[in-house]
Amino acid sequence: MEYMLDKDVERVLFSEEELRERVAQIAAQIDADYAGKEPLLVSVLRGSFVFMADLVRQIHVPCTVDFMAVSSYGKGASSSGQVKIIKDLSEQIEGKDLIVVEDILDSGNTLSYLLQLLQARKPASVRLCTLLDKPSRRVKEVEVNYSGFSIPDYFVVGYGLDYAEKYRNLPYIGVLKPSIYGG
Ligand code: IMP
Ligand code: MG
Repeated sequence: MEYMLDKDVERVLFSEEELRERVAQIAAQIDADYAGKEPLLVSVLRGSFVFMADLVRQIHVPCTVDFMAVSSYGKGASSSGQVKIIKDLSEQIEGKDLIVVEDILDSGNTLSYLLQLLQARKPASVRLCTLLDKPSRRVKEVEVNYSGFSIPDYFVVGYGLDYAEKYRNLPYIGVLKPSIYGG
């Protein structure tokens, strides 16, 4: 550990190397499933930017990328159930094969709203790829096609994931000390 924010982390859940290995496995699955196709990867900002950057470099089929920003949380650690589009996609998605790339699936509120919105634009297909999944927290049912790791109900940070916008730069995924968020 060598980052100033390391002291706020209770323990490392997934090291850089574990993340690299799992991301490569997911990319290989995507390569196999999209052979002969050209998927459009849609990154849900901001949390998924690190995962997206690593994933896309391990995908060998031709693909394009686009970005969307939604907000569901404000600065807290629990879901409000309200989703706001901060930034919409730049490209049309009608007829395209979409892969929505998320950092973490928690209550499912954000994703179920987002998937509905994207479906209405008539893409050829939509699949969901999430690095982390907290199934015990699910409120809205969401079909997950690619999932990196299932985790218990920990609040995790790093590798793009934040608490109050910090910790995104940590190269590993760690459990945040409850004292930091008043838990
Ligand atoms: P959902 O709508 O409850 O599924 O919330 C998903 C979003 O909540 C994710 O994209 C994250 O931004 C945030 N989130 C949920 N759990 C965590 C966590 O453990 N650490 C950091 N962000 C989280
Ligand atoms: Mg997010």
